[in-house]
Amino acid sequence: MRIGIIGCGNIAHQIKKWGFNISAVYDIYPERCQDMNGNICNDINELIEESDFIIEAASPQAVKDYAMDIIAAEKSMIIMSIGGLVDREFRERLFSLARDRGVNIYLPSGAIGGIDIIKTARIAGLHRVTLKTTKNAKTLGYEVSEKTLVFRGMASEAIRKFPKSVNVAVLLSIVSDMDIDVEIYADPTARENIHEIIVEGEFGKATIRVVNKPSPDNPRTSYLAALSPIYLLRSIEDVIHMGV
Ligand SMILES: NC(=O)c1ccc[n+]([C@@H]2O[C@H](COP(=O)([O-])OP(=O)(O)OC[C@H]3O[C@@H](n4cnc5c(N)ncnc54)[C@H](O)[C@@H]3O)[C@@H](O)[C@H]2O)c1
Repeated sequence: MRIGIIGCGNIAHQIKKWGFNISAVYDIYPERCQDMNGNICNDINELIEESDFIIEAASPQAVKDYAMDIIAAEKSMIIMSIGGLVDREFRERLFSLARDRGVNIYLPSGAIGGIDIIKTARIAGLHRVTLKTTKNAKTLGYEVSEKTLVFRGMASEAIRKFPKSVNVAVLLSIVSDMDIDVEIYADPTARENIHEIIVEGEFGKATIRVVNKPSPDNPRTSYLAALSPIYLLRSIEDVIHMGV
């Protein structure tokens, strides 16, 4: 399988580091691809042509700009910038095109856990999904002296107020098929991004708390998030599928 990657940042470099053979790469700043494997493409069309399977690891805008063309070309893809799927109408058109063309779109768990519980619990009915996120205050743009609740509301509003921290909230909203409750805490001393997910439904209640260390090579990306496409790529190649 020829793997193509859009965006030669931290996640792309992790994929290279864990031994995947990459055929083609594309970045709006091509110099960032110099130490990657594979042909450095001049544009997205060249990348699509030279890949059988594409990993988007660039930006929400990249999802909006390229995902339709990738799926129309009948190439399966992983989307890391889940924030690019925030618009329900766009998302449904993209998913529907993938079903028509018989190709797969993978949305990895990224920096959180519990997606398996939400998907399973949805069968009998979900009552409520809550996301409580704690991040370093400066990263969120706040000057506070102690851990402070800076947002409480629905995911749709949180996404507008914190456009750089949307991936987890959008993924949970898509998987739950509801506008989830979100609380965001700014902590002046936090070194880790903490996500607590509370799922309530006919099945009972689950609480998942993930304390994310930053990636060894890039403090802006949670290590678990950078590892999640690696697991996904391995599982695609495997015949035994656990916990899905
Ligand atoms: N799903 C999750 O939980 C999760 C977690 C972490 C990161 N992410 C997302 O994954 C994406 C990649 O993360 P990263 O840490 O590797 O980022 P990064 O900033 O290290 O790298 C992104 C690279 O993509 C390139 N790029 C940006 N827009 C582009 C475009 N339109 N076309 C081509 N190249 C483009 C940039 O030049 C950069 O080199 C980000 O959007 C990030 O928000 C998702």
